[in-house]
Amino acid sequence: MSRKRRIGILISGRGSNMVSLLEGMRAGEIPGEAALVVSNRPDAPGLARAASFGVPTAVVPQREFRGRPREEHDRTVHAKLERAGVEFVCLAGYMRILSPWFVAQWEGRMLNIHPALLPSFPGLHGQRQAVEHGVRIAGCTVHFVDREVDHGPIVAQAAVPVLPDDDEDALAARILEQEHRIYPLALRLLCEDRLRIEGRRVVVRDEEVDLPRSLVVPSPLG
Ligand code: GRF
Repeated sequence: MSRKRRIGILISGRGSNMVSLLEGMRAGEIPGEAALVVSNRPDAPGLARAASFGVPTAVVPQREFRGRPREEHDRTVHAKLERAGVEFVCLAGYMRILSPWFVAQWEGRMLNIHPALLPSFPGLHGQRQAVEHGVRIAGCTVHFVDREVDHGPIVAQAAVPVLPDDDEDALAARILEQEHRIYPLALRLLCEDRLRIEGRRVVVRDEEVDLPRSLVVPSPLG
């Protein structure tokens, strides 16, 4: 089997998507190993969850960089990722806008998950935006990171229905289940070198093997 790729994960909060990636790696479903988890918040509950997997963690508190250029924080994070030998970065609830410099360092090597069917509802509270807008179908997206927020080439999406009584929390829970399916899938494809970016499109090698089944979740609209 080919070498495991070294993965860095950036978090700010509870880290449930991070856990789905760590479980995928531990189970051998993703040919990667977690090299480092970095949080910009010292109190992120995800840090303890990462440690329970035996993954090294680091904190780069954004508070300490207040009033300084955004890039300075990012350079500190980047140095830690480099030192850990990270090849691919996964943003997993990392609540911080990245500097163009950082994005350029990881171009084509950094994924994000967003709780909406992009390009609808980028930015904060994608689930609330979906409920308030009255859409019938919502979902989540894994995409490569580019310089615009929640914007880069799309790797995987999953759809869920929005039910009449849904509030933001109910919809968020339904979407989160799908996030935990498609993020490990997307990282697996990246680690297997099966993703090629062509403009805005991501071409998946051997797509017919397993993607139609995995990518779009049928919505029981009934
Ligand atoms: C998820 O909804 C993710 O899509 C968004 O932030 C949330 C993070 O949740 N980017 P968790 O920390 O992974 O549990």
